[in-house]
Amino acid sequence: MTPELRGGAPTLEMVAAAAGVSRSTVSRVINDSPKVTPEALAAVQKAIDELGYVPNRAARTLASRRTQSIALVIPENTAKFFADPYFATVVQGIAMYLADTDYTLSLLIAAENDGEKTRRYLQAGNVDGALVLSHHSDDRSYTQLARSIPVVFGGRPMSQEGSAAYYIDVDNVEAARNVTRTLVEHGRRRIATIAGPADMSAGLDRLEGWRQALDAAGIPTDLVEHGDFSPAGGEAAMRRLLEREPELDGVFAASSLMASGALNVLRSHGKAVPHDLGLVTFDNDYAAQSSSPPLTTVEQPTVEQGRRMVDVLLHLIDGGTVSQITMMPTRIIERGSE
Ligand code: ADE
Repeated sequence: MTPELRGGAPTLEMVAAAAGVSRSTVSRVINDSPKVTPEALAAVQKAIDELGYVPNRAARTLASRRTQSIALVIPENTAKFFADPYFATVVQGIAMYLADTDYTLSLLIAAENDGEKTRRYLQAGNVDGALVLSHHSDDRSYTQLARSIPVVFGGRPMSQEGSAAYYIDVDNVEAARNVTRTLVEHGRRRIATIAGPADMSAGLDRLEGWRQALDAAGIPTDLVEHGDFSPAGGEAAMRRLLEREPELDGVFAASSLMASGALNVLRSHGKAVPHDLGLVTFDNDYAAQSSSPPLTTVEQPTVEQGRRMVDVLLHLIDGGTVSQITMMPTRIIERGSE
């Protein structure tokens, strides 16, 4: 008779009786304890299969202190999270990896909550670990969180505590230097940058790469305006740059969405890319591919970054050893906008 016809789901006791072992042996098998003989393991697994027994998640949590759940914390506002393809592709990688595991994902868009609420949730045993993506230098609570639960960052943390943190990143300095060099190689000599946020390592490192490329060519590095990785931020920064230097002939925008905002402003000022001025950027998403003209850019493997973040976190949760820093490769996609 199936369990449904008997009027109830099979219980742990029924599995124990069918396998001819004690209740605690069944419990040990379910919680992957090594203290089970191979014979008992086989008998319990057979009984579980035959009865169609599904362990109760709450009971498992109590026994193993595992929730089989991880959090993804994004310290940004919701509008930015949904507008930026960077987040969509990193989350895609995270979700693809988790699909092959028993883990579920809790998404915490932290700037919309108060930080205290997020911290309380993460420390209250609701999750086995946390991924933190796009954090700013004032997000110190997340580096401190790593003292209570395993934490993996997407992007190098900037605070002091962050020096011991696990993170996945790309070499933003090198990538920005290489893409800026394409402007120099095309003869541009008055080159500006729309830098990312000054409180994020991606913002500061891409600015440093731009600076290194110009220093190497003996070009002044005074034309810097910051944006917040959004189209509106790119527009405002481009306006300020044109006010400061109407004759500029090259721009490196540190994200594709900021480049799309900059293109709008250039168009309204009657400046054509690449005829009047070269424009290169970072991120190979629709904003860089489908703009007019399509933009020379740095491709970072964002889906793979998401996958690697989970991979490292699950290793930490399982108590394994894994390297603290994982660097992913980038490449330049040349589209003639330089
Ligand atoms: N590109 C666009 N948004 C980004 C972010 N938040 N961090 C790194 N690279 C990005």
